[in-house]
Amino acid sequence: MKKVWIPLVVTLSIFFICTAFFQEYDLNKSIERGKEVYSANCMDCHMAEGTDPQNTYPPLAKSDYLKKSADTLINIILEGQTGEVIVNGQKYNDDMQPQNYLSDEQIADVLNYVRNSWGNKYPAITPPQVKALRK
Ligand code: HEC
Repeated sequence: MKKVWIPLVVTLSIFFICTAFFQEYDLNKSIERGKEVYSANCMDCHMAEGTDPQNTYPPLAKSDYLKKSADTLINIILEGQTGEVIVNGQKYNDDMQPQNYLSDEQIADVLNYVRNSWGNKYPAITPPQVKALRK
């Protein structure tokens, strides 16, 4: 009779492991962390508000380039971006160095920040998506 609690403990453990595993990615926390990654690694070129006051670095605020797939944007951070790009109708042709020293989480966070600031709104990018593209 004493062992009657064992199935209960097992069931409860399975339940808690499953809820932890399927917990939704916390986009708001990621955006918060991403703000710091942005200030330290992107702001010098892309400005505090993601704008392009001097027609040098393409804007991130309301950038139509952000409509490209999550994979495209992750690759810009991992591999850099060179050659001509057209952002909001304006041509840019400069070099952005790879920022692949950032961790998978930092890259997901900074993209979530960029994709959800200054009027932008997109779904979450998660660290495993970054890991899958890192070579
Ligand atoms: C040294 C300056 C510099 C830094 C630092 C930099 N970028 Fe860029 N970024 C550029 C340039 C220049 C381009 C356009 C490259 C081209 O013309 O092909 C660009 C393009 C982009 C684009 C695609 C175009 C657009 O405007 O939507 C995104 C997204 C982007 N950068 C995000 C970031 C993020 C996020 C960081 C920080 C992790 C970052 N950049 C750091 C200079 C920089």
